[in-house]
Amino acid sequence: MSPTTHPSFRNPRARHNFLGRTCSITGVGSYIPERVLTNADLEKMVSTTDEWITSRTGIKERRIAAANEFTSDLGAKAAQKAMANAGITADQIDLVIVATITPDMPFPSTACLVQRKIGATRAAAFDLEAACSGFIYALEIGQQFIMSRTYDTVLVIGAEKLSSIVDWEDRNTCVLFGDGAGAAILQNRPNSHGLLTAVMGADGNKSELLFMPGGGSKCPATHDSVNARLHYLRMEGKETFKNAVQAMCTAAQEALRRCEIDITRIKCIIPHQANRRIIDAVADRLGATPEQCFINLHHTGNTSAASVAIALDQAIESGRIQRGDLVLLVVFGAGLTWGAAVIEW
Ligand code: ACO
Repeated sequence: MSPTTHPSFRNPRARHNFLGRTCSITGVGSYIPERVLTNADLEKMVSTTDEWITSRTGIKERRIAAANEFTSDLGAKAAQKAMANAGITADQIDLVIVATITPDMPFPSTACLVQRKIGATRAAAFDLEAACSGFIYALEIGQQFIMSRTYDTVLVIGAEKLSSIVDWEDRNTCVLFGDGAGAAILQNRPNSHGLLTAVMGADGNKSELLFMPGGGSKCPATHDSVNARLHYLRMEGKETFKNAVQAMCTAAQEALRRCEIDITRIKCIIPHQANRRIIDAVADRLGATPEQCFINLHHTGNTSAASVAIALDQAIESGRIQRGDLVLLVVFGAGLTWGAAVIEW
């Protein structure tokens, strides 16, 4: 019997590890801001068309946070929904991890601000930065704390207010991104469904493909840096596209290999929602059918670290994912970074 058809496909960690621990996702939640920015709206802002944006990306509209709504607000709202779905209260949370490239401010961490907003007074809190791959990185790190018996309940959030770092005069990038947040509660639940495996990767040699030059220690904010528009994200779209397809395929295949399953066992693939053409190319190379992929980017645009977290919540809420289904998350982002995870929901 080949490894891909063996009935014991489950990674042993899913049932329990040698400490008797299992990491389950007991609740998810998401929040997207009310304001909708359509492609027709963008036609009035930059030289673009709905036809160009739709045919090149699949995006029709994206959500934009209000002026007084910050990444921590989006994250807190997603967290409250995840807590309700998991049936837990804030005082049960041991750790808050927020994945973001748009923190409310350089410090304190957005995780500390979320901790205050939701009243998770017992929790430790920190941010992590892996761009669009952040939610998978956060899932894997959160899982490690659960499996090592350090914590019993971890709140993992991907949250972004990308509208705050998008250059609204640059048609190459401003049509792509949106704001939002998604969250998951990880808990030790012996002999339950769980996070079967997570894969993470990075290649800093290609960091110049997608970056924001200003605002850090290399280029602190000055009048000159603002005038030179250095506090906005920059991207080489074509090269990013090619690297995304390759890295997402590699990460997905590694995650499947570790679980000893093939792609046909996956009920729902939740890819990073950056570009419909990237998703189609990845699905094709993995041998997946278009029906296996969950897509919401036409409504959300690319929400970076929040992307797969929002999609996971919407897929569950819409009934697309049922209890017991195997779900593959696969991501790619600046860094470069990438990752994949297999969940038994
Ligand atoms: N409207 C109209 N024309 C446009 C627009 C626009 N919004 N944007 C670019 N163009 C023009 C370009 O100027 C170019 O014109 P030219 O040929 O006269 O120079 C032409 O359209 C073609 O541009 P390309 O870059 O070749 O278009 P491409 O087919 O590569 O699509 C895109 C561009 C959508 C950005 C694509 O490359 C892409 O999706 N890249 C990957 C992005 C991504 O996945 N990012 C993920 C990580 S995000 C993160 O980590 C935060």
